[in-house]
Amino acid sequence: MTLTLSNLSKTYPGRHGGSVQAVRNLNLTMEKGEIVALLGSSGCGKTSTLRMIAGFESVSEGGITLAGRRIETLTPDRRRVAMAFEGYALYPPLTIEENIGFGLATRGLDRAEAARRVREMAEMLEIGPILKGRPAGLSGGQQQRASLARALARDADLHLLDEPMGQLEPQLRSVLRGRVKAALKSRGLTAVLVTHDQTEANAMADRIAVMEAGVLQQYGPPSELRDRPANLLVATFLGEPPMNALAATVDPAGLHLDDVAEDVLALPGVPMPRAGAKIVLGVRPHRLQLGAGALRGQVISNQWLGDQAHVVLALGPRILVAVAHRRVAVRVGETIPFGFAPDHAHLFDADSGRALAHGMVAA
Ligand SMILES: Nc1ncnc2c1ncn2[C@@H]1O[C@H](COP(=O)(O)OP(=O)(O)OP(=O)(O)O)[C@@H](O)[C@H]1O
Ligand SMILES: [Mg+2]
Repeated sequence: MTLTLSNLSKTYPGRHGGSVQAVRNLNLTMEKGEIVALLGSSGCGKTSTLRMIAGFESVSEGGITLAGRRIETLTPDRRRVAMAFEGYALYPPLTIEENIGFGLATRGLDRAEAARRVREMAEMLEIGPILKGRPAGLSGGQQQRASLARALARDADLHLLDEPMGQLEPQLRSVLRGRVKAALKSRGLTAVLVTHDQTEANAMADRIAVMEAGVLQQYGPPSELRDRPANLLVATFLGEPPMNALAATVDPAGLHLDDVAEDVLALPGVPMPRAGAKIVLGVRPHRLQLGAGALRGQVISNQWLGDQAHVVLALGPRILVAVAHRRVAVRVGETIPFGFAPDHAHLFDADSGRALAHGMVAA
């Protein structure tokens, strides 16, 4: 285990008295060479977690072990951690080249090797032409790449990257994330990537930690989070468009969808809670089949996005989205049959949101 966070918590004094608990009892481990994405909505505690690991924010409770050393009380320069900051934190009087190379020499690299490292990072992130410029004359996206280059140029036990590509346009971002991942992997580096972009997390991370309101919701490989979300929050946060979620009541013969005047929906093979239990049924948009099935919905819209169709359906007062990877010949206003295989049903407890079943398997 390279990094272990044990019961890590962060409480800030509130701006109007009281206190804000930004991170609550966070437990997380990482192996050497792993890339982990911290994913969650704004204010969920991602930056606070990174800053505690880097040592720029004190730990309110809990411990941090990195490469076998307890580090939570060490000063930042003694933690052997490199960080790309959300706000870039470049040194204004230095050129971009000097910013990227800052401290490389004092960390044991000879001059030629340090210069080579700076050039390599600049080329990878396409900022070669601005190496002689100073931060003040550059765009946000250029400063952000300089900050990322500075972090990646360093040798460290852990690289912390806080929204490192958030300012870049989507095309450049998708090219650079591939290169950054390859660079991390080829050097065997361990990295925590903070992002609220699920595509970036899926593309780059070996494991994803989903946080909400300072609490870790689930930690696992992208496929596990997608196929076996631990709760409704993770289920609806990951996936685009989000998972369809329908309130339902368990019936001896299957599920009754609340407020929908339809027969009971049979889901053979799916483990059901006791009859009468209030649940939420989740089905991913690309798992809905249009044209056949036990349900009937009215088409609200049918949009072709160039490589996929998004069809919005009304099922009584409920709205669902179906995604198909071909054009779908349905007209707005038409009522069509649709359905899904029981294998693709997810059941969640209505009160706690906790997953109860994924297809035929109890959660
Ligand atoms: N220095 C501070 N003093 C008081 N409260 C703070 C401080 N820094 C962060 N917070 C609060 O802690 C919570 C978590 O903030 P944090 O910056 O860790 O979130 P985040 O997940 O990085 O969000 P974002 O995606 O917007 O960057 C928020 O409620 C925030 O307002
Ligand atoms: Mg942040």
